[in-house]
Amino acid sequence: MNHQIGFIGGGNMAQAIIAGLLNSGRSSSDILVSDPNPACQSALSAMGIPCFEQSDPVIAQADLIVLAVKPQTMKTVLAQLAPNLKVTQIIISIAAGITIGSIRKQLDDTPNAIVRVMPNTPALIGQGMSALTSDAPLDDTTKNTVQKIFNACGQALWVGSEEAMDVVTAVSGSGPAYFFLMIENLISTGVRLGLTPEIARELVIQTAKGAAGMAEVSDVGPDILRKRVTSPGGTTEAALAVFNDGDFADIVDHALVAARDRASELSRDVP
Ligand SMILES: NC(=O)c1ccc[n+]([C@@H]2O[C@H](COP(=O)([O-])OP(=O)(O)OC[C@H]3O[C@@H](n4cnc5c(N)ncnc54)[C@H](OP(=O)(O)O)[C@@H]3O)[C@@H](O)[C@H]2O)c1
Repeated sequence: MNHQIGFIGGGNMAQAIIAGLLNSGRSSSDILVSDPNPACQSALSAMGIPCFEQSDPVIAQADLIVLAVKPQTMKTVLAQLAPNLKVTQIIISIAAGITIGSIRKQLDDTPNAIVRVMPNTPALIGQGMSALTSDAPLDDTTKNTVQKIFNACGQALWVGSEEAMDVVTAVSGSGPAYFFLMIENLISTGVRLGLTPEIARELVIQTAKGAAGMAEVSDVGPDILRKRVTSPGGTTEAALAVFNDGDFADIVDHALVAARDRASELSRDVP
C-alpha cells in the first residue's frame, strides 16, 4: 500500500507539490490536506483531493506530514501535532528559515524523522529545485520516499547538513529572481534597440532555456560552453568584455554572500 501523504496548509506550494504528485501517477486517494481557507479548499476539491478544515484527520491518517503553512503559523500547527504524533510518522517542513531543532523542540523532542526542504517557485510549473536535509541519518527507504514527493514537482537532492540550507537559499531559493532579472534586462534592452516586445521576449526566453538545457546535457562546464560561443573579435566577446569590466563575477559573488547572510539572519526558531 502507498504511503498516505498529508499536507497541513494547502496554499500555493502545497498545491504545486500535489499537482506534481498527481501528474507523476500518484492516486488522489493517497493525499489529504487541511486548510481553513475556502479558496484553497475549492482548489483542492477541483483536483479531487479531500481538504479538511481541521488538521486532526491529516494527523490521524498520514504517514508523511508536510508542513506547508507560513512560518508564523507553525507554532499553532506544531502544538496540535505534538500530542497526537505517532513515532513512525515522517515530518517534512517547507517553511522557509525554520530550523529542524526548533521544530523538534516544539514537538517535545520527539524522535520522529524530520526533514527540512527548501523548494523554489518553479515548482509551480513542475520545474522546481528542492534541497532536502535532516538532523539525523535517515534510512534509504525514508530518503527515497521523501525525495519522490519533491521530484514530482521538479528535481530534488539531499544536502549534507542543515548549515548548507542558507547557501541553498541564496543559490536556488532566491535564484529564480536572478534569472528573471537577466531576462528582464535582456528584453528591455532588446526593445530599446528596436525589437518588438513580443520578439524580444521570445528570443530571450528561448535563449535562456536553450543555454540551461545545453549546460545540463553537455559533458563540459559552462565556462567551456561560453568560450565556444566567444569567437575572437566577435560580438559575444564585445558583450562579455563589458560584463567583465563591470566585475560581473564579483557582483554575483557579493549578491550570493548577501543572500546567504540574510538567510542566516532570518533562520530562526519557530516564531
Ligand atoms: N511560495 C514559495 O515560493 C516558497 C518557496 C519556499 C518555501 N516556501 C514556504 O512554503 C510555505 C507555504 O508557502 P505558500 O506560498 O504555499 O503559502 P500560502 O499560499 O499562504 O499557503 C499556506 C496556507 O496555509 C493555510 N493555513 C493557515 N493556518 C493553517 C492551519 N492552522 N492549518 C492548516 N492550514 C493553515 C493558509 O490559509 P490562510 O490563507 O487562510 O491563512 C494558506 O492557505 C511557507 O512556509 C513558505 O515559507 C514557499
